[in-house]
Amino acid sequence: MNLTPKEIVEYLDKFVISQRDAKKTIALALRTRYRRMQLCQELQDEIMPKNILMIGSTGVGKTEISRRLAKMMKVPFIKVEASKYTEVGFVGRDVESMIRDLVLASISIVKAEKEEENKEKIENYIINKIVEKLLPPLPEQATQEKKDDYQKLLKSMEEKVIRGDVDDKIIEIEFDKINIEFADTNLPPEMAKVQESFSKIFTTMNKEDNKKSVTVKDAKSLLRQEASAKLLDMTNINTEALKRAEDGGIIFLDEIDKIAISSKSQGRNDPSKEGVQRDLLPIVEGSSVTTKYGVINTDHILFIAAGAFHLTKPSDLIPELQGRFPLRVELESLTEETLYKILTQTKNSLLNQYTALLSVEGVELVFCDEAIKAIAKLSHRANEITEDIGARRLHTVLEKVLEDISFNANEYKDHTFEVTAELVHEKLDIVVEDDDLSRYIL
Ligand SMILES: Nc1ncnc2c1ncn2[C@@H]1O[C@H](COP(=O)(O)OP(=O)(O)OP(=O)(O)O)[C@@H](O)[C@H]1O
Ligand SMILES: [Mg+2]
Repeated sequence: MNLTPKEIVEYLDKFVISQRDAKKTIALALRTRYRRMQLCQELQDEIMPKNILMIGSTGVGKTEISRRLAKMMKVPFIKVEASKYTEVGFVGRDVESMIRDLVLASISIVKAEKEEENKEKIENYIINKIVEKLLPPLPEQATQEKKDDYQKLLKSMEEKVIRGDVDDKIIEIEFDKINIEFADTNLPPEMAKVQESFSKIFTTMNKEDNKKSVTVKDAKSLLRQEASAKLLDMTNINTEALKRAEDGGIIFLDEIDKIAISSKSQGRNDPSKEGVQRDLLPIVEGSSVTTKYGVINTDHILFIAAGAFHLTKPSDLIPELQGRFPLRVELESLTEETLYKILTQTKNSLLNQYTALLSVEGVELVFCDEAIKAIAKLSHRANEITEDIGARRLHTVLEKVLEDISFNANEYKDHTFEVTAELVHEKLDIVVEDDDLSRYIL
């Protein structure tokens, strides 16, 4: 992860239009972590990350920015919804579980890396196991000639397995141990241990069931787990993963406005919201959290919080929490021009998606520029008249414009269908200008 802030922004530009401030702030925060890691340990310990609060109305790209970052970065990253958590003592997920999720995310990154490093070994292990099943072994006292033949057979079978020629053959494989991984990180570590012992008991009890008849193709993927468990050093991976989560982990805390308590509507709020905020304090500030894989210190984990803050304001969060998010960025609402750019300039834009979907039916969909402009204009207008739902409006609007052609696609097989400005206006004008209609349809 040694992209410069400029490179990070450039990458994000491919997917998210405008919102320059947000991109810059995040890029800088990421670079700061890289810079920190180059320093001596003493200084490293002193430099705390500056957490970020992104504020912007719905559908302007808050989640999108984080989603793209997550894809790009090789650092442990998770996105969680603040509204999902409950105060300790209430039923539900406590906030510490997000740290455990981060560790899991980190483990899967490190594991994938190690698997890549040991790709050949793992491949060989799998192929050997399958070949063993396909070719019965030679009796001990076989003649040298037979043994030579067998070797040739072995070689050719290996090639067949690799090429996938025998993918449909059924073989019986036994699994050493079914490792039931508990994805539920909700449990405190002590409970997780209990669950683990139970799973061990059950696995020993079900030894007989560990045999399974499967196709060679399925065996390849089933054996992969076993191979990495056998060939990779999981303890090493866990230690490394814990360290990476500690130094480079990022938690994207979405919908943080949903746990703020509006100063206006007193009394009607869920009392546990404030509890969640309080529970968040030590984690954001830095504390130790026990996980199944060891203790992790949260001092250097970067938190990026985001929220629309329609009904509440950042100042409705408890002061201690506000103070822990010193960097504030506001995302702009989308203008007609931005909407147009979102349609035309983003990678995998909605227009490309629809074009690709219809190409499956043999229809070539073409949008004229005037039509795209009209779509942007009418989407923007609908946002003005009813609620501003940002770029999400494009989804509903496009769906409306293309509903007929999408439905009757087979009639247009091997033809080109041009979406013109007239079509757009014909489909949308009445709807957009009629307040009631647009509330329902768009
Ligand atoms: N600036 C933008 N550039 C490109 N696409 C965008 C932009 N803003 C929004 N979109 C698109 O709109 C959709 C919704 O955006 P996103 O999920 O980021 O909204 P949000 O800001 O998180 O809203 P909410 O507060 O409701 O969660 C996504 O499909 C995204 O691709
Ligand atoms: Mg969102």
